[in-house]
Parts: sequence; structure tokens; C-alpha cells
Amino acid sequence: MTDELLRVESVDKSYGDERVLTDVSFEMDRGDVTVLIGPSGSGKSTMLRCVNRLTEIDDGAIYLDGDCVTDADTNVNDLRRQVGMVFQDFNLFSHLTALENVSLGPRRVLGKEKAEATQLAREQLEQVGLGKQLDSYPAELSGGQQQRVGIARALAMDPKLMLFDEPTSALDPELIGDVLEVMRDLVDQGMTMLVVTHEMGFAREAADELVFLDGGKVAERGPPEQLFENPQHDRTAQFLRRLTELHG
Ligand SMILES: Nc1ncnc2c1ncn2[C@@H]1O[C@H](COP(=O)(O)OP(=O)(O)O)[C@@H](O)[C@H]1O
Ligand SMILES: [Mg+2]
Repeated sequence: MTDELLRVESVDKSYGDERVLTDVSFEMDRGDVTVLIGPSGSGKSTMLRCVNRLTEIDDGAIYLDGDCVTDADTNVNDLRRQVGMVFQDFNLFSHLTALENVSLGPRRVLGKEKAEATQLAREQLEQVGLGKQLDSYPAELSGGQQQRVGIARALAMDPKLMLFDEPTSALDPELIGDVLEVMRDLVDQGMTMLVVTHEMGFAREAADELVFLDGGKVAERGPPEQLFENPQHDRTAQFLRRLTELHG
């Protein structure tokens, strides 16, 4: 077993005539936190979606734990079981309680008994600070609480890798902190995380590597200190200066 968990190798992706990703490569070891940054439309969401095959790549390859996930004969359901995803807009089932939202995957996908899945879901929700909201419906929860349900739901599948696509972008400023705190706990627990975010405070302290996507290409990558203190390209410096002004 090597330490490498994710390898993205020369990935190209177009939508029709529009080239969205060009020759994108990066790697993550187990326990790494990689933060993908870049302007709107630079291909960040597309890159995440390629990892769990919500979007198909045109060229290159992606490996998870040594297996090529972009092969035509890859079992996509197996893959998605191993990769948790947290979306900007939470994507919860509105007719299910927090507990039901979190226990659904373990029951339906992992085939766990109701009692076991419920217990697992309760523990996950307690971990994200929602032990008192088990029976609440999404509409009864704040955005920050809904997003924490979303994180608990992904964690209940015991994923190898967690993908976060701007998990705090839809939240009121005062609710962002609670979600970032849950993400920091996950980092401390050694979870491997690929995160798209504009929260530069989180990126600076939590990321092992920043990958700056610009126009669908990796413009620069490296440890946060390097990109913040000593960027190799003017574009990186400009982008980070602007983001830091906006999101500290
Ligand atoms: N399903 C799709 N069909 C067509 N074009 C898309 C689709 N998804 C994204 N795009 C285009 O791909 C480009 C990159 O989008 P995206 O990956 O969402 O960027 P980001 O997340 O960095 O803002 C954009 O120009 C967007 O309009
Ligand atoms: Mg996006």
C-alpha cells in the first residue's frame, strides 16, 4: 500500500466546443488536504465532478487508491461509495429528517439494518454538533446546520476521500464558522479532503497544497506559504490578494 490516494493525470475536458480543463495533474497522499482555488468558471467544480464520475473526462486518467476510476468498465456505484461529496447548496432530501438523511445511504447503499444505520447516523450528527436536531427537517434548520447534515451524510458512508465544492458559499457570514470548524475537525482526524473554497483562512491553515486553476489549467500549485508569500506568477498573486481582501 502506497501513501498515494488520488492521482489526477493530464485530464482534459470540454463541453461541446468549450475547453474547460486542460492537462490538469495533481496528486494527494492519504490524509492530505488540497484546496482548489481559481476564478469563477475556471473548472473547479468540473474537476471535482470528474473525480466521482458525475462528469466524464475526455483524456487523461484519474486513480483512486491505485484503481483507475476513469476506465469505461469502472463500477461507478462502488466509486461513489468511496468518495463523499458536499455541495454548495446542501442537496438534502426535504421530506426526510436530519437522521433519515444521514441513515439513508448506509441503509440503501451499504445494506445496513435500520437500527445500525440509525445509530451510525446519530453518532455522525453528534460529531458535527447536531445531536439535538436529529428529528428536524431541513427547512427547520439554518443553512449552516443543513450543511453540517450534508457533511454527516457523506461521512456516514465512511469514505476514503471527501470532496467539498464551496461548502460555505451559500451561507450567511455568521454561519460559516461552524461549518469550517467541522471541516477543521475532519482535517485533525486525518481525513483526505479535496476542497474548493474561497475561505483563505481555512486554506492557509489547513491545506497541504493549493492548486490554482486558471482558465482550466493548473497555473500554479504548492504549499500555502509558497503561494501566499512567494507566488511564481503575477496571476496567482493578483488572485490571492483579491480573495484575501474579500474572505480574509
Ligand atoms: N454541464 C455543463 N454543460 C456545459 N458547460 C458547463 C457545464 N458545467 C460547467 N460548464 C462550463 O464549464 C466552465 C467551468 O465551470 P465550473 O467547473 O463550474 O467552474 P468553477 O467551478 O471554477 O466556477 C464554465 O464555463 C461553465 O459554464
Ligand atoms: Mg464551481
